[in-house]
Amino acid sequence: MKSNRFIITLIGIGLLGSANTVFAGEPIEPIAPVKEINLAQVELGKKLFFDPRLSKSGFISCNSCHNLSMGGTDNLKTSIGHNWNQGPINAPTVLNSSMSIAQFWDGRATDLQEQAGGPIANPGEMALTHEIAIDVLASIPQYVTEFKQVFSTNTINIEQVTGAIAEFEKTLVTPNSRFDQWLLGNKDAITADEHAGYKLFKDSGCIACHYGPAVGGTSFQKMGIVEAYKTTNPARGLSGVTGKEADHFKFKVPTLRNIEMTYPYFHDGETETLAEAVDVMGRLQLARNYTKTENAQIVAFLKTLTGEQPSFVLPILPPSTDKTPRPKPFE
Ligand code: HEC
Ligand code: HEC
Repeated sequence: MKSNRFIITLIGIGLLGSANTVFAGEPIEPIAPVKEINLAQVELGKKLFFDPRLSKSGFISCNSCHNLSMGGTDNLKTSIGHNWNQGPINAPTVLNSSMSIAQFWDGRATDLQEQAGGPIANPGEMALTHEIAIDVLASIPQYVTEFKQVFSTNTINIEQVTGAIAEFEKTLVTPNSRFDQWLLGNKDAITADEHAGYKLFKDSGCIACHYGPAVGGTSFQKMGIVEAYKTTNPARGLSGVTGKEADHFKFKVPTLRNIEMTYPYFHDGETETLAEAVDVMGRLQLARNYTKTENAQIVAFLKTLTGEQPSFVLPILPPSTDKTPRPKPFE
């Protein structure tokens, strides 16, 4: 046990040493405002993110499972897809996901644009084909005009659709959390207990995996280093993508930004409370059994990571026409 902790501490120091992200001597950086964004694409992508006509049922949009009123998740153990299909894995938040090294728990999509094509055609999620999705959009004159304005072409294609959605997702960042205010020099922004929680988070080694502006999202790590994680969920993690035995049960380290909003926790969604998640992480990753007080302090610190949620006027979607392929909610 002791030697495991030692190794993890070393990994931690190694990571911190190599990261050029250290802000004011701290391993967590404040979230920077979005720069270099294509505003026309963002507006189009926002509509597409909310448009349920990109699903076979005409009922499921990206926002159904990544609800922007609820931290960019569905707060369900696993998601509900087409035909009330029981999803295989917990839906991660879309908030701050542009900061991750790759998308999905196992990293199988390299970026947001590649990711966005997946759910539309996934039979267990939106269950449409990309062809029908394009037919739907091309049948709606306002969409045709908007795509033309944004991409300067007369034909709509799936790369434009996923590109616009990805551009919108880049705006879904949550700056100005109380912890960021503290990082930026406002020492009263967090309480003594919250600060004690942050110190524990650093000193006991959580920071070896959860660091950087998103407090995660920077690496793939094994779930259950010191002690195996027990789950009935069949997900294998990174090894499913690389085929390497060494990658078995490695998952992308999730962001801890807005973590109080994105319950339930872990890839199987089996952990309902933040206190329990901290307890599991302490024991399984670091061989640490936190006292009640320590656990409460870490939880208090984690809640200071809730930032300003994206806010905007709900997009009004252009109506379908006589030519628009009709939804098939019960097929
Ligand atoms: C039926 C629910 C559902 C719908 C609809 C859905 N998603 Fe997801 N989304 C998920 C689940 C579940 C995952 C995790 C899958 C995995 O990792 O294997 C996920 C993963 C993601 C991720 C990766 C986040 C990360 O941290 O790895 C992004 C980004 C995302 N979805 C965006 C979208 C967009 C954009 C749409 C609409 C085109 C969409 N999703 C539609 C359930 C859904
Ligand atoms: C060795 C790397 C590593 C260390 C150390 C580590 N974590 Fe994690 N953490 C992960 C990985 C990987 C996951 C995702 C595991 C899964 O879902 O199966 C995770 C998940 C979490 C989650 C759930 C996030 C979500 O959205 O479901 C929380 C909360 C968390 N960690 C907090 C902590 C705390 C607090 C510590 C210190 C006690 C810690 N972690 C230490 C790698 C690590």
